Amino acid sequence: MNESPNPNESSNQVTSRREFIKTTGRIAAASALTGVALPHVHAAGSSSIQLALVGCGGRGSGAADNALSIKNGPAKLVAMADVFEHRLAGSFDGLKKFGDRLDVPPDRKFIGFDAYKKAMDVLKPGDIVIMTTPLAFRWVHFTYAIEKRLNVFMEKPLTADGPTSRKMFKLGEEAKAKNLKVGVGLMSRHQRGFQELQKRIQQGEIGDVILLRGYRMHGPVGSAFSTKWPGSPSELLWQIQRFHSFLWASGGCFNDFYIHHVDHLCWMKNAWPVKAQALGGRHYKTNAEGQPYVDQNFDSYSVEYTFEDGAKMYMDGRCVNGAQDIYKSFAHGSKGLATVSNSNDCDPPSRIFKGQAANRSKMIWESKINPEERNPYENEWRDLMDAIRNDKPYNEVERGVKASLVSSMGRMAAHTGQEIAYEDILNGDHEFAPDVDKLTMDAPAPLVADKDGKYPLPMPGITKKREY
Ligand SMILES: NC(=O)c1ccc[n+]([C@@H]2O[C@H](COP(=O)([O-])OP(=O)(O)OC[C@H]3O[C@@H](n4cnc5c(N)ncnc54)[C@H](O)[C@@H]3O)[C@@H](O)[C@H]2O)c1
Repeated sequence: MNESPNPNESSNQVTSRREFIKTTGRIAAASALTGVALPHVHAAGSSSIQLALVGCGGRGSGAADNALSIKNGPAKLVAMADVFEHRLAGSFDGLKKFGDRLDVPPDRKFIGFDAYKKAMDVLKPGDIVIMTTPLAFRWVHFTYAIEKRLNVFMEKPLTADGPTSRKMFKLGEEAKAKNLKVGVGLMSRHQRGFQELQKRIQQGEIGDVILLRGYRMHGPVGSAFSTKWPGSPSELLWQIQRFHSFLWASGGCFNDFYIHHVDHLCWMKNAWPVKAQALGGRHYKTNAEGQPYVDQNFDSYSVEYTFEDGAKMYMDGRCVNGAQDIYKSFAHGSKGLATVSNSNDCDPPSRIFKGQAANRSKMIWESKINPEERNPYENEWRDLMDAIRNDKPYNEVERGVKASLVSSMGRMAAHTGQEIAYEDILNGDHEFAPDVDKLTMDAPAPLVADKDGKYPLPMPGITKKREY
């Protein structure tokens, strides 16, 4: 395995040490890996860069919209892929506002588990594929994109378990070696106010960072809570529709919802935690009509992460109606406090205060963002396009996998009731859906319900080595 067990060491550092190659940067490391000069892969005449969309749901449609909305964005969307015809059709209708830049005739609309290949086959090397299915398919689609020499924008999270993370680290290195540009949808990193805040924290403006706190607490959202499979569509397609309910499909609500705070707080600290212990449970086992929930999520999680220097990070997540809503994040240092996300995943403004209270009279800085760059979802496209057009190193895979692993580490600590180290999750052998690349429309689901329509659940203190 190519990856360092220390989350705070990059895989480049490890590779270069192991191979005794002197490197001065990422591209140099990638070059050394392949032993060949790296071509600048973008479509001939970058004004002709085209897009394909794989996973035409809410975020996929949003990402295509963002890409086509920015100045100097890709020229056209030319192919679309999904496993549901109605999702593709809905997405297509929503993008009609782009006129002839939506250039997807019926023979470039593809449905099925192999649709991703057909959509990517429409592109030429240097074009961009958007991958916005649930995470289970990320490594499958990324493998083919690399083979086709495509630049990539893929949504978070990237992985839900150790074996897939190891695969994705390797694929990230392969993409780097081919000089492909890869953006990962952790948009906090492209929020301009956060970028300034991170610099200030790293320059010591709040002193040593000793405590980070993230809260995402609201009612049940997305498809995190499911009652029994109704019998149609197939169990597989139903699980894909309700992907937040199943660890194989999404990593559950912990990974899918809480990864943004986990990621941006670790970025503020400029380190990844080395271990986690956690609380979590299911308070409500049925819906209001008394039907049992069969998904694999807890409704509350409280994870205590520990960094190498002993600093702590708490991530509290709750999906319970009627309980207090809190959706914010904070960084405490030895000299002051930073309010990081003012609300939601990464809303501005961020602020720095002297002391530990968010007391207005003690405020020493507040983020100001140029109005054209207020939308971090568009900024991630500005940054990706700039890298493609000007051939700048750009590969967000490693940090995307680390954010996913650290999320999985917290989730596993809650689900097992055990302390989980970064190496435990990284080196784990439980791959939730090993054959996801072989799925067909009539294949059984990776998780099959028992005779009562229920799925295996985490049992902290009883099931300790695996989550189910
Ligand atoms: N960065 C963010 O703020 C943000 C916000 C929302 C969602 N997301 C991420 O985007 C991803 C998608 O979420 P969503 O809310 O758009 O879900 P969604 O269900 O609306 O969309 C997913 C789409 O992918 C399709 N799909 C599933 N499996 C497929 C396959 N094998 N091949 C082709 N198509 C397939 C589904 O039919 C659906 O149309 C998730 O990973 C989620 O975490 C990120």
